[in-house]
Amino acid sequence: MAIEVRPLTPHIGARLSGIDARRPLTSDELKAIEAGMDRHAVLVLPGQDIDDAQQLAFSRNFGPLEEGANSGARDSELRLPVVFADVSNLDKEGRIAARDAKKRMAALANRLWHTDASFRVIPARYSILSGRIVPAHGPKTEFADMRAAYDALDARTKAEIEDLVCEHSLIYSRGQLGFTEFLPDERVAMKPVRQRLVRTHPVTGRKSLFLAAHIGTIVGWPRPEAMAFIRDLMEHATQPEFVYVHEWTQHDLVIWDNRATMHRVRRFDDLNIVRDVRRTTTRSDGPTVAQEAA
Ligand SMILES: [Fe+2]
Repeated sequence: MAIEVRPLTPHIGARLSGIDARRPLTSDELKAIEAGMDRHAVLVLPGQDIDDAQQLAFSRNFGPLEEGANSGARDSELRLPVVFADVSNLDKEGRIAARDAKKRMAALANRLWHTDASFRVIPARYSILSGRIVPAHGPKTEFADMRAAYDALDARTKAEIEDLVCEHSLIYSRGQLGFTEFLPDERVAMKPVRQRLVRTHPVTGRKSLFLAAHIGTIVGWPRPEAMAFIRDLMEHATQPEFVYVHEWTQHDLVIWDNRATMHRVRRFDDLNIVRDVRRTTTRSDGPTVAQEAA
């Protein structure tokens, strides 16, 4: 099968065909995916009817897997092994999660623009999301190109933000929606971490904005001033010209580079329609900036 990569927008997103994610990748296939990711930042591989073991094997091609992505949930409450982020609307018993279920409350923050795991010292490289049950009236996922957004900034703003460092935590993103019920040990686990606001892609050398709803301040700035500025940058970075809107089809496998994109899921009737999508996440090379001494 010949590998074909077809761009979906001028900046971001491409459809990749000619690879079967159920089988081990050849080195040429791996190179084609990585080259496609470096160029387009989001790849859609349609028709990938994979199981959990196949998703794990496929994902391991792209770096060490991040565990515990269902941050805040107790292991005993999980439907899937900790190596998966359960992005479904199902509870441990496979029923649609109740309106006020804690899992649902936390998942609602996925409707805010974010990058996965920017609240970890070593943030994510790729997220790999498998559409196992994709309802006809399910939500779209939107992806914004943080490289194009950076490029479009004026020179003064680029100079101003070059060395800025932000603090990221799940407490901030969930708090934006009014979800503030964290247990003491959760608050410890969600301690803010520092990330550069401008990062450079290790392969392409392109600069991008490292933005997310997880940001709670800019180091050294008064917090309200920081948050007003972050809002401006978010608004700039998510203009339609930088965004690819993905409409899901059953068995889509969607990969995005968290070092170059933000994403959000849109609202849907999640109290009545089953949606089962499962994410694996690989780690990037290291921290974007030194952490504060404990
Ligand atoms: Fe996400």
